[in-house]
Amino acid sequence: MIRVRVPATSANMGAGFDTLGIAFNLYSRLEIEETDRGLEIITVNNSGNVQSDKTNLVYRAMDCVFRQVGYKPGGLRIRQDSAIPMTRGLGSSSACIIGGMLAANALSGRMLAYSEIMDLAAGMEGHPDNAAPALYGGFCVSVSENGRIFVKSTKLRNDLKFAVMIPDFFVATRKSRGALPELVSLRDAAFNISRASLFQAALVTGDYELLRYGAEDRLHQPYRKSYIDGFDGIFEETYRLGSKATYLSGSGPTIVSILTGSGERFKRGMESFFSENSHQWRCMLLECDNVGSVLSEI
Ligand code: HSE
Repeated sequence: MIRVRVPATSANMGAGFDTLGIAFNLYSRLEIEETDRGLEIITVNNSGNVQSDKTNLVYRAMDCVFRQVGYKPGGLRIRQDSAIPMTRGLGSSSACIIGGMLAANALSGRMLAYSEIMDLAAGMEGHPDNAAPALYGGFCVSVSENGRIFVKSTKLRNDLKFAVMIPDFFVATRKSRGALPELVSLRDAAFNISRASLFQAALVTGDYELLRYGAEDRLHQPYRKSYIDGFDGIFEETYRLGSKATYLSGSGPTIVSILTGSGERFKRGMESFFSENSHQWRCMLLECDNVGSVLSEI
């Protein structure tokens, strides 16, 4: 049997649209074994609708690898146990894709390198910024170049907490991407290049006071914020309570604040603030996962 643990991820991180991402210590776990025939999918602890037929994302990711390497399994039993909320911008799809691909690669004789799995995963998802930290862990910069993905993953120090604020509604990535313009101005492009560069430098060097300037964005957040009631007020409150940087996680609707210290006072403050919001929000304090996906064979 193959066991895979894949971390939750948060993409974009402000200005790094389709480029920056980070892994968190919140996990999806898969147990997969080859059987004589048929497909059995068992889901435990899921927070949404998980398909139990061949449209299941873990299965589709496995099938993609099997086709790539020319392997035909007899049958498959897939057990999914995920603590990652679905369709909230925390990489639940990437966790399924990376987990399924790693397991399929292990079952079929480990013919693919991690970099090839990364290329396949980003191709399946359409962008690399969740899949990269899901696979490698840490804070990742990813670049797509003609179907190949180049990733630089950096392990972060353990002096940061990430307040992950998750509302009770979801926004599908496809819909949220549909809200974005085809073209942006040179001024906005330059604005984001400078911010994303500053953000990455500040994060890896530990110069956290600069993070909030690096997290400012003009490429996606302004177009997506209308999906979230009270978006600007939430951001203002996070900064009032000491956030070093606040951003929309992936395509949303989860909002992440980067914190130093324990984060407990911040969490209490935001919970009190959210009690006035028209939606229910929960706030989790997470840390960066510097390990990435872990696979074991038993
Ligand atoms: N970069 C992607 C987007 C992340 O913003 O659409 C989706 O989670």
